Amino acid sequence: MSLRFASADDLTWSSDERIALEHANPRFGAVFSDHMAVATWKAGEGWADDAVVNYQGLDVNPGSAVLHYAQEIFEGLKAYRHADGSIWLFRPDQNGERFVRSAERLALPTLPVDDFVNACVRLADVDSRWVPEPGDSGEKSLYLRPFMIAYQDFLGLAAASTVLFSVIGSPVGAYFASGVKPLRLLVERTQARTARGGTGEAKCGGNYAASLRSQIEAKKRGCDEVLFVDAVEHRWIEELGGMNFMAISKDGQLVTPELAGTILRGITRKSILEVAPDLGLEPVERKIGIDELLGGVRSGEFPEVFACGTAAVVTPIGSFLDGDTDVQVAEPTGKATMEIRRRLLDIQFGRAEDTHGWLKRVR
Ligand SMILES: Cc1ncc(COP(=O)(O)O)c(C=O)c1O
Repeated sequence: MSLRFASADDLTWSSDERIALEHANPRFGAVFSDHMAVATWKAGEGWADDAVVNYQGLDVNPGSAVLHYAQEIFEGLKAYRHADGSIWLFRPDQNGERFVRSAERLALPTLPVDDFVNACVRLADVDSRWVPEPGDSGEKSLYLRPFMIAYQDFLGLAAASTVLFSVIGSPVGAYFASGVKPLRLLVERTQARTARGGTGEAKCGGNYAASLRSQIEAKKRGCDEVLFVDAVEHRWIEELGGMNFMAISKDGQLVTPELAGTILRGITRKSILEVAPDLGLEPVERKIGIDELLGGVRSGEFPEVFACGTAAVVTPIGSFLDGDTDVQVAEPTGKATMEIRRRLLDIQFGRAEDTHGWLKRVR
């Protein structure tokens, strides 16, 4: 039976003034909407207790498996307000399918895609007042964070027997506080984020914890983000800490690392590969060596390079720091990059026709 995520009887609501204040200057993931969708799962019983309740602390004991063994997965998607006031999600079924794959990898129970999508729709509907107008940046939205944790109070190392699923929401503006400014990337040739056979393709917290030390180093060295390479040969480009990587060649190829189990199957990545032909670009998924890339950036073979993901949409890359060598990108806010960015945002915010059928109406 499908989960309904009906509203609890005791929901409380923020004032219009408070919401307007938070919408004026949204801080990514720092403020949360009034409510959350929840459901629990028990081995032998399945999913139950689905509801939309007030945003509140979780009943997690110190012995909970998630705290010790990182048995946890999450997702990220956004609710967009269109000019007519309607609210939409972008390809939530894709997030739901990835959530199933992540759950399987982390020995968590799977949540049917329809239930996942319904939980997101219900929270965005109940908290529709928290979905901002797109604003001057044209990018404000309500970020939804579905997640699942194993919270049985038991230190034995075992698959989850008690699980909590939840969706929370946070109003967001542009991911990078300074707006669309080309990123400077630190090339990380030593510390890997994930490895073949590991959990790179799953969206689980451990992958992100493993990337933080490199991220700190990047900041110290004046970079915004880290570009990770593979864990074996330390030369094949993988992705950034929280975004996929793409380069545009001077003859119109849109090149991105192939999916080999170590990088996240980004939904933005997939969508860009699907719209690329409409923009006159040929999508190519293949291995890209870091030396080939940096050589191609220097020679002009790759005049444009960018990162992509739900949070930042499409963000141009302006330079790389590889050891002590600085490599500048020829066209850091290049025409093709900005066109891809605009195309995606226009579909998400209803400013262009959704010819692919990617949007799911909330209300
Ligand atoms: C490691 C990583 N790669 C790529 C992405 C981009 O994925 P998506 O486009 O589905 O947001 C994300 C963000 O979700 C991520 O965390």
